[in-house]
Amino acid sequence: MFYRPSGLVVLGLLPLARGITPASVTPITSIHASVPGDSTPLTTAATSESFASAVSSFLHVSSSGTSASALAPSSPVQSSLSTSALPLQGPIPGVFPATDPKHPPSSKDSTSIVPDFSPAWSVAYSRAKAKISGFSLDELVSVTTGVESTGFSGRCVGNIPSIEPSTGRGWPGLCLEDSPLGVRLADFVTAFPTGINTAATFNRSLIRLRGLYMGLEHVGKGVNVALGPMMNLARVAEGGRNFEGFGEDPFLAGEASYETILGMQQGGVQACAKHFIDNEQEHLRTSSSSNVDDRTQHEIYAQPFLRSVMAGATSVMCSYNRINNTYACENDKTLNDILKREFGFQGYVMSDWGGTHSTLSAVAGLDMTMPGNVGRGPGSYFGGNLTAYVQNHTISQDRVTDMATRILAGWYLLNQNSPSFPAVNFNANQPGDEATNEHIDVQDDHYKLVREIGAASTVLLKNVGGALPLKRPRSIFMAGSDAGPARVAGPNAFRNQNDNDGVLAMGGGSGTADFTYLISPYEALQARARRDRTSVSWIFDDFNLKRAGDMAIGRSAAIVFVNSDSREGTDRTNLTAWHGGDDLILSVAAQNDNTIVVVHSVGQLIVEPWIDHPNVTAVLWAGAPGQEAGNSITDVLYGDWNPSGRLPYTIAKRTEDYPAQVILGGTPSVALQVPYTEGLLIGYRAFDARNVAPRFEFGFGLSYTQFTYSNLHISKAIAVHSNERELEENWTAGKSNPMGIGSSTALWLHRPAYKVTFDVKNTGPVAGGEIPQLYVQMPSSADEPPSILKGFSDVHLKPGQTKSVVINLSRHSLSIWDVVDQGWRKPEGTIGIAIGASSRDFRLHGVIPT
Ligand SMILES: *[C@@H]1O[C@H](CO)[C@@H](O)[C@H](O)[C@H]1NC(C)=O
Ligand SMILES: *[C@@H]1O[C@H](CO)[C@@H](O)[C@H](O)[C@H]1NC(C)=O
Ligand SMILES: *[C@@H]1O[C@H](CO)[C@@H](O)[C@H](O)[C@H]1NC(C)=O
Ligand SMILES: *[C@@H]1O[C@H](CO)[C@@H](O)[C@H](O)[C@H]1NC(C)=O
Ligand SMILES: *[C@@H]1O[C@H](CO)[C@@H](O)[C@H](O)[C@H]1NC(C)=O
Ligand SMILES: *[C@@H]1O[C@H](CO)[C@@H](O)[C@H](O)[C@H]1NC(C)=O
Ligand SMILES: *[C@@H]1O[C@H](CO)[C@@H](O)[C@H](O)[C@H]1NC(C)=O
Ligand SMILES: *[C@@H]1O[C@H](CO)[C@@H](O)[C@H](O)[C@H]1NC(C)=O
Repeated sequence: MFYRPSGLVVLGLLPLARGITPASVTPITSIHASVPGDSTPLTTAATSESFASAVSSFLHVSSSGTSASALAPSSPVQSSLSTSALPLQGPIPGVFPATDPKHPPSSKDSTSIVPDFSPAWSVAYSRAKAKISGFSLDELVSVTTGVESTGFSGRCVGNIPSIEPSTGRGWPGLCLEDSPLGVRLADFVTAFPTGINTAATFNRSLIRLRGLYMGLEHVGKGVNVALGPMMNLARVAEGGRNFEGFGEDPFLAGEASYETILGMQQGGVQACAKHFIDNEQEHLRTSSSSNVDDRTQHEIYAQPFLRSVMAGATSVMCSYNRINNTYACENDKTLNDILKREFGFQGYVMSDWGGTHSTLSAVAGLDMTMPGNVGRGPGSYFGGNLTAYVQNHTISQDRVTDMATRILAGWYLLNQNSPSFPAVNFNANQPGDEATNEHIDVQDDHYKLVREIGAASTVLLKNVGGALPLKRPRSIFMAGSDAGPARVAGPNAFRNQNDNDGVLAMGGGSGTADFTYLISPYEALQARARRDRTSVSWIFDDFNLKRAGDMAIGRSAAIVFVNSDSREGTDRTNLTAWHGGDDLILSVAAQNDNTIVVVHSVGQLIVEPWIDHPNVTAVLWAGAPGQEAGNSITDVLYGDWNPSGRLPYTIAKRTEDYPAQVILGGTPSVALQVPYTEGLLIGYRAFDARNVAPRFEFGFGLSYTQFTYSNLHISKAIAVHSNERELEENWTAGKSNPMGIGSSTALWLHRPAYKVTFDVKNTGPVAGGEIPQLYVQMPSSADEPPSILKGFSDVHLKPGQTKSVVINLSRHSLSIWDVVDQGWRKPEGTIGIAIGASSRDFRLHGVIPT
């Protein structure tokens, strides 16, 4: 029995239908609601009451007044649509339920269900069209133009003005706010773990939940569009914004983007996939040109954006840089052709702040200019200029109508028309202004998730002789400023976290949030140690090496905290620990044979100076874990959390071993050329292909227990009714899929095609989580790197327990991009599968059956 909410059944054919066959206009067949703490999908809700309660429970920040009717479009729009064009096709069970962003499938089903948002988009488009049908040209243009151009600074980092009156025929405008880890420049918010830590959990449930909670906090502050997640890849280890993103692997970054967006939009905020595209270094980012070949573009850098479109992201931010010497925000190939045509993106493209360079960008696919100005100065490329270009027929009014429709559709897709959607109640531009800051506390109990992700993202890199977990040590010594709180002026001493003092919990720049509080390791460890009557001592001075060494003598454990920071706008200039961290480790290790190193870092470091030191018994890689940093690391040190984090990047032995480096030099007035000559060989793919031994490979991480793998089976997924059989057969025969609108995100290409099952057993003494990883090993005809990640799971096991793990593979995951055909195709030859605990620790091997 299928409940069909009145507002979501009646569909016309989409203006920009995803997929190239009518299958993508499947009627609503079931509603999946997953609320925090309850991962059981609430399928086939039978009554409007249960649907309404599922809807209202999503938004506990503003549930009053939210009801099923908020989802229902106004009747005139609906009645103008006809059902006669709909294919009379039954639901395809368990495969791709049509749904809306408030009811995504559970993260447990992420490799078995491809949610189809096209009916929800269709409704949103109808409502958007009805709304703007009464707008004048000036009003349409106003929807596309940030207000800063008019000299007005709104309360958010980006502001789209209202169309007056703001109700009825009018519209209230939009608040756009950073960041990918929380609500920026606001108080009483949660400072979540960074993107890079989130990726290091390899745990879809945690990634999804973080997205949901961030979405709820943004909505609670009245934000319409949250500017994240950030999904540019860690192509260069030094990249200043790598901490905001999800590491060096396109599949991991794609899945993390997908889960984050599903969570954020379930929370009610519009997500913004950024920065599209090829924005992998900060040096001269606003003028440099990233020159990327078509195959690399599709297989590597576009992958997270493809997954974002599949997650129903309402907006995408084009990046500052040029691509092949054309600015990303006026690049017809990337915006119109790849994003809007191939991926079938139905939302809107906004510029990065000051990233618009012309009015004609509109024709190349830009829909909104932010914050509105020419550069950051007066005037706008949109605004009056866009109106003039329409009036003299340089740009068609249809295009401006499409721009405004896309923007309004995003607003309707997330039901932000609901009267209960909170008004903006903070002021990012004037945090000290009492009149415009209502100090609404949106933190709820999200700190618990922050603490859990902080622990789940901590990677155990070395553990000799059972050094960890700590077992009621007699005495503990902590060394390093990173162990303590900020010494001078608290956790928000530096605006936008643009420098570091004390424990490093996030990087700097726009990808930050202010700390409501920050727990340092010193606070958490000391509180924990007291329970065992452990004697605790510390030194926060990084440079008094003699004293640090002397204080370490005779302590049961000497824990040295080092870090490395970075921020938006500049790249790291070296991969060495800050504040003389290497020397501090060596000084302590010289005097204590149980030296434990904790690293808080935005990314890779070269650890060669100390990693093999016999007195360095354990190393914990804690990344930049957010406001609960101290509690998270304490949980891991004491074994309250058995480490399960895995490296989302490669730690090399030498900086030169990395396949790509920041391109320096150049001047802002000429486009610095950044050639992506390593092509597909990003990160570990290069180390594998070139046979270079890393210090710690991608996907690596130890546990306090051990796991064994067995019993690999690979089979074709159970055949389901499909009217796309011919596409599937052609794919099996090695033909490229035909290109059309949405063909790269077509459901048949992404639903499960092969099912991989195997057993994992915990053979060690304590309970723990394992992260099984699936790597595809393409035949030589494919010209791919040796092993590429295409699946991962997380499994928690008691000692002696065995569980069966299932990882499904889609046809897309087994395809390469054919630059001649311009399509995805299965390479000729046998496709191998390697399952293991890292990108170099394979335990099981098999092949894809023919
Ligand atoms: C794998 O896909 C099948 C459908 O072919 C589905 O029944 C199963 O739940 C999926 N498994 C996982 C772990 O997603
Ligand atoms: C950039 O140039 C390369 C090499 O000609 C080409 O393969 C790629 O498609 C181009 N990308 C864009 C966005 O134009
Ligand atoms: C139109 O664009 C130009 C830059 O091309 C800018 O100098 C001017 O201020 C803009 N006009 C308006 C009305 O914004
Ligand atoms: C149209 O108007 C714009 C803005 O005033 C101007 O820059 C452009 O040259 C005009 N084009 C034509 C064909 O008149
Ligand atoms: C590495 O870079 C940081 C930040 O710029 C700097 O403080 C430090 O001195 C550098 N270390 C080395 C060894 O060059
Ligand atoms: C290891 O620590 C002990 C003190 O416990 C010290 O005597 C020894 O020299 C250290 N080893 C090295 C290689 O520094
Ligand atoms: C399948 O391949 C055949 C032969 O190349 C082609 O004619 C047909 O159009 C393809 N079918 C689809 C649905 O793309
Ligand atoms: C992943 O996170 C979920 C939600 O907290 C948890 O239930 C699960 O055990 C985690 N997986 C592992 C391996 O820790």
